[in-house]
Amino acid sequence: MNTVSGDRFWFGGDYNPEQWPRDVWDEDVRLMGRAGVTVATVGVFSWSRLQPAPGAWDFTWLDDVLGRLAEAGIGIDLATATASPPPWLVAAHPGMAPVTADGVVLANTSRQHYSPHSPVYREHALALVRALAERYGRHPGLVAWHVNNEYACHVPRCYGPDADVAFRAWLRARYSTIGELNAAWGTDFWSQRYSGFEEITSPRTSPTAGNPTQLIDFDRFTSDAFLDLFRAEAEIVREASPGIPVTTNFMGAFRPLDYWKWAREVDFVSDDSYPDPVDPQAPVAAALTRDLMRSLGRGKPWVLMEQATSAVNWRPANAPKAPGQNRAYSLQAVARGADGIMYFQWRQSAAGAEKFHSAMLPHAGPDSRVFREVCALGAELAELSRLRGAAVPARVAIVFDWDSWWALEQESTPTRLDYPALVQEWYRAFWARDAVVDFVPADGPFDAYDLVVVPALHVADDAALTALAAVPERGGRLVVGFMTGILDRNLRVRAEGCLGSLAGVLGVRIEEFAPAAPAPGAAAPVLRLTGTLGELSASTWAEFTHAVDTEVCASFEDGVVRSWPAVTRRRTGAGEAWYVATRLDPPSTDRLVGELLDGAGIELPTTGPSEHVEVVRRGDAVFVVNHSPQEQTVAVRGHGPRTLGPHGAEVLFG
Ligand code: GLA
Repeated sequence: MNTVSGDRFWFGGDYNPEQWPRDVWDEDVRLMGRAGVTVATVGVFSWSRLQPAPGAWDFTWLDDVLGRLAEAGIGIDLATATASPPPWLVAAHPGMAPVTADGVVLANTSRQHYSPHSPVYREHALALVRALAERYGRHPGLVAWHVNNEYACHVPRCYGPDADVAFRAWLRARYSTIGELNAAWGTDFWSQRYSGFEEITSPRTSPTAGNPTQLIDFDRFTSDAFLDLFRAEAEIVREASPGIPVTTNFMGAFRPLDYWKWAREVDFVSDDSYPDPVDPQAPVAAALTRDLMRSLGRGKPWVLMEQATSAVNWRPANAPKAPGQNRAYSLQAVARGADGIMYFQWRQSAAGAEKFHSAMLPHAGPDSRVFREVCALGAELAELSRLRGAAVPARVAIVFDWDSWWALEQESTPTRLDYPALVQEWYRAFWARDAVVDFVPADGPFDAYDLVVVPALHVADDAALTALAAVPERGGRLVVGFMTGILDRNLRVRAEGCLGSLAGVLGVRIEEFAPAAPAPGAAAPVLRLTGTLGELSASTWAEFTHAVDTEVCASFEDGVVRSWPAVTRRRTGAGEAWYVATRLDPPSTDRLVGELLDGAGIELPTTGPSEHVEVVRRGDAVFVVNHSPQEQTVAVRGHGPRTLGPHGAEVLFG
C-alpha cells in the first residue's frame, strides 16, 4: 500500500456522538463538511453503549451515525471499542482488573481497566470485535479499522495472577527447559535457582534490585502480550473486511511497547502526539517522533491519529496552542511523511475527565479562532493532496532499541541514563541542521545511509554488531556512543569484552567505566575535552579507553580520566568509525555533527543551523516551519531567504 487510503489526506478526529443527542449529530456532519473533514474515528470508548448488558447488543445508534457519515462522504475509521470495558463486565469478573507491582488492584472508574493477560477480558473483547466486524465489515464508508486505543498507555505492565500464568507460558516458549532459563537469567547469583517454571512469578516489588534478565524478559513479555491482543482483534476484522487497512494508535517513543515488532503487524502506522505548546524543545521531540513513525513503517506514509487543536487537560497548567501553532505542527507531520492529520477530538466534551481538552469544534462553537484555523487547515491539506505517498529522503540513520532502553533503566547499571533523552540529544543536532534522520533497529538494514549514529546500544547481539561493523567497511560513517555493546540479549556482560566485534572496527579497547557522578550536594561535573576538534565539553560519563588503532580527536582534560581518549576516529579507506566515550553537551554535539555531515558530503536544504525553523523536503515540496513565537528568516537552498511570522509555515515547490 503506497498511500494510507482514498485519494485525500485524512483530516478529522475522534468522533464520540454517544455523548450528545441526535440533533447535535446533524450539526456535527454539517460542520465537518465545512471543516473539510475526510475521516472520523468512531466508537473508541463505546463498549458500554454497544453492549449494555451480557448478551445484549445495541447497534442502532451506531448504524445511524455511520450512515450519516458515509452519506456525507466522510470515511469511517471504525474503532473496535475494546479499550474501556463496561462496568457490568468488571463487576462480574473482578479478577480481570490490572494489578500494579505493589499489588494494588486498579479500579474501573476510569479507562483501560483490564489486565492484558486476563482470559476473561480477551474472550469478551473478541466477542465485541466479532459483533462489530460482522455488522460493519463491509460498510461502504469504512476506510480503516482502529484496533483498541493506545495499548499500554495507562497500564504499562500488569502483575496479577493472570500475569504470572501468562509469563510462565511465555518463558516456556523462550527457554525450553528450566535449566536453560537458569543459565540465561544467571540465577546462581543471590540463590535464585528455580527448579520449575511454576515457581516463577512476575517481578513484583522486591526487597532490592530484581534479577535483570527476569526484568527485561517481563518487559518483552508485556509488549508481546499486548501485541497478541492486537493480533487477535486484527485477525477478526481483516477476515471481515478484506482490503481495509488495520491500525492501532502508537504513542511516539513509548517505553512499554517495542514498536519495531508492532509495526510489522499494522497495515499503516498511526501516532498520537501532544507536544507542550510552551516547551521550546517540544518541536524537536515532535519531529523525532514523526521520523520514528515513518521509520517504523519503513518509509511508508503514516497517520497523525491524534493531536490537540489547542490545550490538553492533563498537564498541571494547560497552555493553548498559539495562533498558527496547530498548523505548524500539522505541516511538520506532513513534511515528515504523514498522510493524515487527525485530532482528539471532533467536538469538545461537556462532561467527563477530558471536558477541558480542546477539540476541532470547541465549547465556543464554530465562531472561534480554533474552528477557523481547523477549516483553513482542512482546505490547505486538500490543496496539498497530491503529496500523499511522497517519500521523505534521509541519508542519516540513528539506531533506536527498546531492549537497551529497558536495560538502561534498571537499578543495577554503571549510571542511570534517560535513553530517549540521549537519543534526542543526537537527533537535535541533525534537526537543527535540517538533516532528515531515519531511525533503524539495531540489526539494520543500514545500506541506505551515509552516516549511522548509535547512542548507547547497551544491549547488542552479534548480528547487530556485525551489521554496524559493515557501515565503515563499505565506506560509510559510523558513530558509536558510550555504553554500547556492553551486554548480550540475556544481559550478560559480553564475554569477549565491551563492543564485541565492533572494538576492532573502532580501534579501541574499553578498560573501565568512570561515570562523572556529582559529589553529594554538588552540581553535576562538567568534563572539558581538547584535541583536533577544538575545545569541547561533556558530562555524565567517562571511561578508561585505549586508542589501540585509531586517531584520538579529543581527550579528557579533567578528573581520573585526565588525558585518556574521549573521541576517536578510525579511517577505513573511504569510511570512518568514530567512538565517543562521553556525553557531549549540545554545542559540542553540534560541532561533531557538523563535521560528520560535512565529511559525509550530505547536502542540506538550508545554509546554517537554526534552533527554531525546520526545513524538510518531501517529494517535490519543501516545508519550512517556524516553531518560535518570533519572526524568523532562514535561507532555503534554491529559494533564497524566507521570512516567516510567529509559528508561520510555508510549502515551496520545485
Ligand atoms: C489520548 C487518547 C484519547 C484522549 C487523548 C487526549 O491520545 O487516545 O482518548 O484521551 O489522549 O488526552
